[in-house]
Amino acid sequence: MIPAEFINEVKDRNDITDVIGGYVNLKRSGRNSKGLCPFHSEKTPSFTVYGDTSSFYCFGCQTAGDVITFISKIENLDYVEAVKFLANRAGLVVPEEGKNDGLSHMRLRIKEQNREAGRFFYKSLYSPAGKQALEYFHSRGLTDEIIRRFGLGWSPDGWDQLVSHLNGLGYKREEILAADLGFTSRKGGLIDRFRNRVMFPIIDIQGNVVAFGGRKFTEDAGGGKYVNTSDTLIYKKTNQLFAMNIAKNDKTRELILCEGYMDVIALHQAGFTNAVAALGTAVTPQQARLLHKYADRVVLSQDGDEAGQKSIARSIPIMKAEGLDVRVLQITGAKDPDEFIRKFGPERFKRLLEGCSNDIEYSILRIGGKYDISTDDGRLHYLREVCDYLSGLGTLEREVYASRIADRLHIEKSAVLSQADASARRREKSEKEKEFREMARNTAGIGSKVNPDRSAHLKGSTAEYALLEMLFSHQDLIKKAADMLPPEQFVTEFGRRVYSKFIEIVDSGQELTVSLLSREFSESETAEIIRIVNSGESRGTGDFGELIEIIRTEHSTPRPQDAAKLSPDELLEQMNRLRKKKT
Ligand code: UTP
Ligand code: MN
Repeated sequence: MIPAEFINEVKDRNDITDVIGGYVNLKRSGRNSKGLCPFHSEKTPSFTVYGDTSSFYCFGCQTAGDVITFISKIENLDYVEAVKFLANRAGLVVPEEGKNDGLSHMRLRIKEQNREAGRFFYKSLYSPAGKQALEYFHSRGLTDEIIRRFGLGWSPDGWDQLVSHLNGLGYKREEILAADLGFTSRKGGLIDRFRNRVMFPIIDIQGNVVAFGGRKFTEDAGGGKYVNTSDTLIYKKTNQLFAMNIAKNDKTRELILCEGYMDVIALHQAGFTNAVAALGTAVTPQQARLLHKYADRVVLSQDGDEAGQKSIARSIPIMKAEGLDVRVLQITGAKDPDEFIRKFGPERFKRLLEGCSNDIEYSILRIGGKYDISTDDGRLHYLREVCDYLSGLGTLEREVYASRIADRLHIEKSAVLSQADASARRREKSEKEKEFREMARNTAGIGSKVNPDRSAHLKGSTAEYALLEMLFSHQDLIKKAADMLPPEQFVTEFGRRVYSKFIEIVDSGQELTVSLLSREFSESETAEIIRIVNSGESRGTGDFGELIEIIRTEHSTPRPQDAAKLSPDELLEQMNRLRKKKT
């Protein structure tokens, strides 16, 4: 355990706005700062950093927390690692740890088991029983050298081969379950997660084996094509990239992003040691960040099928938002890079790489592929869709590509541009409306899981939130509030719990902080609390008595209403009335 005083010192020495500013382009607005959220993809900034309360909140994805939460999320570290990271940043020396706490001990045990499992699978592959699996790898063109480099393996047939091996090494049932190397059978026994599959270990950039993928290789075997490790204490699928541990050593600052294990391995064997895979899904912002650590340019090399093209379309904006130069490689004559290399050889793949288009050319080409521009109807539809696409680009890019499109259709460039402008205006309007609607629903708590009582008791809960915000910034008032208004008289259950916690913390002589609260509430509850205490309307303490009176009245004579039935405009009007005039 790291002493609490040290954690406080770490937080004091790492100004949240400074720290986050290193990751997110923040613009000051009043006392807060705003930027594009690094945890989900968005076009307009809804990620807010509050200097006053040392916290952040994203109105789009509701991710929130203090500076330590931020670092652990963005750097994919656990709590203790994040504290160390920030200590380092501030030049502080972390006091010697005593015994490991439970969670970091479990993490360690999972890492060790995974390493053991990796060895076990590799050995099994080269045991007599693994013959068929090894033949399978060989039949797909893999050499023993590449098998070793990637640590591939075979999970033996049977029920509990690995489980008993791990038991023998002293790993207990709950540890094996936590590593997701086994699961509980219907009869209650512990069964191997991977049985009779060829195994691909996923290794993080520090060299830890964090997960496995297991592929079926005989027709008669049961189950899906792949079985994968679920998320564990040390593995989050959406944060990892397969083979990044090897590709990070490539010095070209260019990475090739494929779909599957076999694509990556085939590329490495052919000499393209900068290939990685997101494993069958579109890139996430976290993966884009990881890519950007080691590369400035990413070549998307997805399968040629419709699913691959869809994944490209979804990945492009996320990678561009991260500031990466995106290229798209079009595979023809083979279904994926693995098959392409096997069929046509590395030289041809190299030429594909050299000739790949940038993301805009790719997108325009793809739209063009949908229409027959030799007909008027096709030209019109093409123009409409391609201008829609252009409208989302920067001015310069819009100019350049408008000329190309105009040439292709034999029309005036100005016609293309004005169509794109109209489309941009339409889009902006509808995006604004959508954001407005969502904002209204969010602030009124419609659909809120954290505080399901809120939208039916808008007046009472709005007063509760205002009171909680006031108390958070004027903690000397909490005792007085507790005397006047016992928690039982709160209208919403959630508000009551937060209020009780406020009282409890202050009674125990501690200072109320977001960090302290985040220990007491779940992640989504903490996010809601952060939103409440930062809603920016603390208007001094003048309303203190009045707020208490409203809560009391709404509690004794509740007048439920269904806010979900109101239109966004009515909602917002109502919210404004409740907050500003407090009637
Ligand atoms: P593919 O179906 O393209 O498989 O899925 P592949 O890797 O090219 O395998 P081969 O060439 O048929 O042997 C691409 C990736 O999607 C994930 C895996 O990570 C796979 O490598 N995937 C696919 C799954 O996780 N589960 C599945 O059932 C299928
Ligand atoms: Mn394949």
